[in-house]
Amino acid sequence: MKRPPKLQQKRLLEMLVLAVLLSSSCIALFGFYKHRAFLASTSPLAPRSNTFFPIQNHHLRYYNRQNLSLHAPQPAATLYPKPPPPPQTNAVDSVLETGPYHNWELFAADFQEMMQHLKIFVYPDIFNKSSPFANIFLPRENPLDDPKLGNYFSEHMFKVSLLHSPLITANPEKALFFFLPFSINNLRNDPRVHSEAKISQFVAQYTSSISNSLRFWNASGGADHFYVCCHSVGREAPSKHHGLRNNAIQLTCCSSYFQRFYLSHKDVGLPQVWPRTDQTALNPPHARHRLVYFAGRVQNSQVRQQLINLWGNDTQLDIFNGSPTFPYEEGFKRSKFCLHVKGYEVNTARVSDAIHYGCIPVIISNYYDLPFSNVVDWSKFSVVINQRDIASLKTRLLSIKREMYLRMYHNLCKVRRHFFWHTTPRGYDSFYMTVYQLWLRRSTLRLSY
Ligand SMILES: *[C@@H]1O[C@H](CO)[C@@H](O)[C@H](O)[C@H]1NC(C)=O
Ligand SMILES: *[C@@H]1O[C@H](CO)[C@@H](O)[C@H](O)[C@H]1NC(C)=O
Ligand SMILES: *[C@@H]1O[C@H](CO)[C@@H](O)[C@H](O)[C@H]1NC(C)=O
Ligand SMILES: *[C@@H]1O[C@H](CO)[C@@H](O)[C@H](O)[C@H]1NC(C)=O
Repeated sequence: MKRPPKLQQKRLLEMLVLAVLLSSSCIALFGFYKHRAFLASTSPLAPRSNTFFPIQNHHLRYYNRQNLSLHAPQPAATLYPKPPPPPQTNAVDSVLETGPYHNWELFAADFQEMMQHLKIFVYPDIFNKSSPFANIFLPRENPLDDPKLGNYFSEHMFKVSLLHSPLITANPEKALFFFLPFSINNLRNDPRVHSEAKISQFVAQYTSSISNSLRFWNASGGADHFYVCCHSVGREAPSKHHGLRNNAIQLTCCSSYFQRFYLSHKDVGLPQVWPRTDQTALNPPHARHRLVYFAGRVQNSQVRQQLINLWGNDTQLDIFNGSPTFPYEEGFKRSKFCLHVKGYEVNTARVSDAIHYGCIPVIISNYYDLPFSNVVDWSKFSVVINQRDIASLKTRLLSIKREMYLRMYHNLCKVRRHFFWHTTPRGYDSFYMTVYQLWLRRSTLRLSY
């Protein structure tokens, strides 16, 4: 029996709709699985075999799993204390924490994951007391007792904190990152090395030696290796080694977008912190009767010269060319806003000085890739002013209403802990905030194992 043509048409239409629905859900399903496959392949816990980039036999010959293990000397037991439990967050904390962060919940959850999975291997030179260059590699006994470290304190504290942290592993096969333990600050102070040219030569030779003797450098081209420097001389340190310069991660205080060896997506801005043993109680906002504080040498900085020329004689502002007429720290305690003005480099310890003393940092230093800026929202607890707008400095700060200032002060109190180093790292201190930046840069692709 023939169907009436109307019905046939309707049937055809139904089939067409069904076909479209089916194929779109197939695409969606396919997309979902593709996404899952992608996630699986990028997860640090995913098996290393990867269908997109199958490991070739000739790779296996070089990177045989059976003999990857390194016969490094076992480090002193005290350097690997029982790991402290990871910092806990609770719900109440989270609600209060939203202020200065881009997204506290996301960060805190990822941070917890890092605490479980991040492992760092340190090249054994850090333990070799008989090496003629032991002074370059061994950690400082106690950086807090050495006031001469000054601006380079963060470099030494990173190393000491790392050795006391539960993230360290003696098994390089378990490591997501590899630490090159030379100290740029100590190289600078060693008469055998000292000059910028010799430092870069030393660092290049050391990197070649580890890539020749062990397999791990070549396995990633150095992309999962990192080193630390908080010294302007360190800027040229990687210049003589291709992989160190282009692939390895640099943790540095000189994090300028226009520094030729700083790549913001690869390298990490390190907070520059002056040695301090405790977090002092803060002077509350009502006890801060001065608007602005700055004290420092002009050096060769145009913008500092402009600052002095424009505002050096303004009686409402405490701006000193050189030392202030009162103790240096006093200015941070009695002022609402404290200036960080570019000198030789984009960075100085003034930003964390200001944070430490509860003074809102005013950052006049163009192209400064501020530390942790993917976690904390600097606009919530600091003021960033373009160098060319220095003439409007005073109007700009006077236009910040009291309510706004109080909110910034409140947020500043919350981020203070990120700008503090502990010998044994804890909580969300400078060490953990910095290694979190490493965690974000963990490689998903390795040529081998
Ligand atoms: C690694 O293991 C492979 C296969 O067992 C062996 O042929 C090779 O000689 C080993 N290499 C080293 C450096 O031990
Ligand atoms: C320590 O350094 C010395 C000199 O470079 C070297 O001969 C020795 O093998 C090293 N010791 C260890 C355990 O690596
Ligand atoms: C790593 O690569 C370099 C350059 O290709 C090579 O000279 C070196 O022997 C390799 N290292 C190892 C451990 O195979
Ligand atoms: C600031 O005051 C000092 C002393 O009175 C004077 O020598 C200097 O020229 C003044 N600077 C400016 C930029 O007006």
